Amino acid sequence: MAFVVTAVLLATCAIVSRAQDTKPAADTGAFKDKLEVCNSCHGEKGVAEMEGVPNLAAQPDLFIEWQLVYFRGETRMNDIMTPAAKDLTDQDIRDLGAYFPTLPPPPGATETDADPALTKAGGKLANDRHCAQCHKDDFSGQGEIPRLAGQREDAIIKALHDYQHGARRGRGNVIMPEIAYSLNDDDIKALAHFMSRQPAK
Ligand code: HEC
Ligand code: HEC
Repeated sequence: MAFVVTAVLLATCAIVSRAQDTKPAADTGAFKDKLEVCNSCHGEKGVAEMEGVPNLAAQPDLFIEWQLVYFRGETRMNDIMTPAAKDLTDQDIRDLGAYFPTLPPPPGATETDADPALTKAGGKLANDRHCAQCHKDDFSGQGEIPRLAGQREDAIIKALHDYQHGARRGRGNVIMPEIAYSLNDDDIKALAHFMSRQPAK
């Protein structure tokens, strides 16, 4: 499994040219205007208030870049994001990929846990299914593998269902669909509840 991941990451590095060292011009003209559109749904600091909209704060750069490439290329289908990414240039995508990792990570659900048993079940599943092997021990993600810690519960549930139903194919990356097929609805609920409550690190 580790070999597969390494191969995927190496392929990713080869495809996305990292040659340009341009800094994201978050505070200037055109990029700022684009970012304002993103922020209207994903939140001013990349922490979304709207149901079904994932947090982007502190997501790894390659994860942001690849998902935008998938939306733009229509291999990740979504009524909102596929059109939102349609006109992004490669440079926009690099700038956005450089920007979101600089934001402080989402704090994770802070209200009293209404269902500690579900959190515990989610933690046990995450351990049994080795989610940390790729998503890291603190679930902060790396490379093209997303942060799960502090992600919105509803967004995680939707993502796992989308992998099960083939709505997220990316570029034929079968890792998550394979994992998601083996989960039932109760597993998905427990994992999402657990991950959304993991603190920022
Ligand atoms: C009208 C609301 C809206 C706007 C504007 C918008 N997004 Fe999104 N975005 C969403 C929703 C909803 C999803 C979840 C899509 C899904 O369920 O597959 C999403 C998903 C994403 C994802 C994947 C995150 C993940 O965890 O899977 C990225 C990356 C992203 N958006 C970046 C952007 C960027 C960059 C912009 C600005 C260019 C932007 N979005 C503009 C609503 C929006
Ligand atoms: C072998 C590596 C690997 C393992 C193990 C793994 N993942 Fe993933 N995960 C990935 C990769 C790679 C992606 C990005 C895939 C893509 O481009 O859609 C991902 C994406 C996700 C997403 C989408 C998040 C978002 O914001 O879009 C969720 C949710 C997720 N994984 C949950 C889990 C859970 C829960 C487990 C354990 C049951 C797990 N993963 C185990 C590699 C892994």
